[in-house]
Amino acid sequence: MIPIAKPLIDEKEIEEVVKVLKSGMIAQGPRVAEFEEKFAEYIGVDYAVAASSGTTALHLAMLAAGIGKDDEVITTPFSFAATGNCVLYVGACPVFVDIDPQTYNLDPNKIEDAITDKTRAILPVHLYGQPAKMDEINRVARDNDLVVIEDAAQAHGALYKRKKAGSLGSMGCFSFYPTKNMTTSEGGIITTDNQEMADNARILRAHGEKERYSHVVLGYNFRMTDIAAAIGLVQLEKLDDFNERRLENAEYLTEHLKEIPGLEAPFVLEEVRHVFHQYTIRVGEGKRDDFMKFLTESGIGTGIHYPIPIYQQKLYKDLNFSANCPEAEKAAKEVLSIPVHPGLSVEDVEKIVSVLSEAGDELF
Ligand SMILES: Cc1ncc(COP(=O)(O)O)c(C=O)c1O
Repeated sequence: MIPIAKPLIDEKEIEEVVKVLKSGMIAQGPRVAEFEEKFAEYIGVDYAVAASSGTTALHLAMLAAGIGKDDEVITTPFSFAATGNCVLYVGACPVFVDIDPQTYNLDPNKIEDAITDKTRAILPVHLYGQPAKMDEINRVARDNDLVVIEDAAQAHGALYKRKKAGSLGSMGCFSFYPTKNMTTSEGGIITTDNQEMADNARILRAHGEKERYSHVVLGYNFRMTDIAAAIGLVQLEKLDDFNERRLENAEYLTEHLKEIPGLEAPFVLEEVRHVFHQYTIRVGEGKRDDFMKFLTESGIGTGIHYPIPIYQQKLYKDLNFSANCPEAEKAAKEVLSIPVHPGLSVEDVEKIVSVLSEAGDELF
């Protein structure tokens, strides 16, 4: 089976983890500080605050921006649940706005209509590794005095007009979950140029402590460990190479997909560098499930990112959420991700293309 994702860990990560284990400092310590410094430099921002996951990074970012009870945050329903949940954690209300059917990202033209006097922030997601249309989103935010928090969980190293994802809003939040473009095992990080938000996030991630045992606000334990940071430091050095291989695989797939009926390749905006966290196609005419079954039976791993818009999840239905997002609902029925990760061999990519063609011939 060619898996849909595969973390690439070698001796270097193992050596660095062993060093940490032998050092006696295995919680948050100097390696986390070093990782924060290097990640901030890589993204091109002044500050980075590491966290225990992408979800806790998003939660901290909401708190650090002062978002809370009765506030509204505009976001996309076509994402992993954490994008909506981080808004709920702080007692605020996610307002779901439809996606652009080409990029699957938040449609900036639909944001303005969703703004009320309670709106405090916009939370765009750079889905599958392609940055959202940030100029348009930032313009709406500026005009309406809103904070922009990027969910860059899938976009390490992605560019929008030559600037890195994570440096395009007030704060960016990354995930280092093992399937992501780089990993720390579990882990996350906030990137920002805003010193106050960075300080807030730092205090909130460690029990609201300004100094040891002096708790100034209700904080959490959302710290990253030095073990995770040691993995992250090695992975960060490999990230550009990993992304290059993702792009090569994506180019090969797109070139061959054109010839296969019933399939739509990913659309890439001219002004971005897409880093293909996922290579996600649309399968037409209600054939997605059959297509997926054919691929699975032929040894190709697949994934649906995402099968249910966030507001249609049981949790959100129970909370009486609803939204008018026909494009997100359509995409949820049609998208299918196929392997694109840097662990694929040339033979793997060739096999994927040949199975896709067979499936196309059989089903369309
Ligand atoms: C878009 C998006 N946001 C948030 C998260 C949450 O990150 P984590 O799994 O590290 O908590 C993920 C990752 O799964 C994600 O894909």
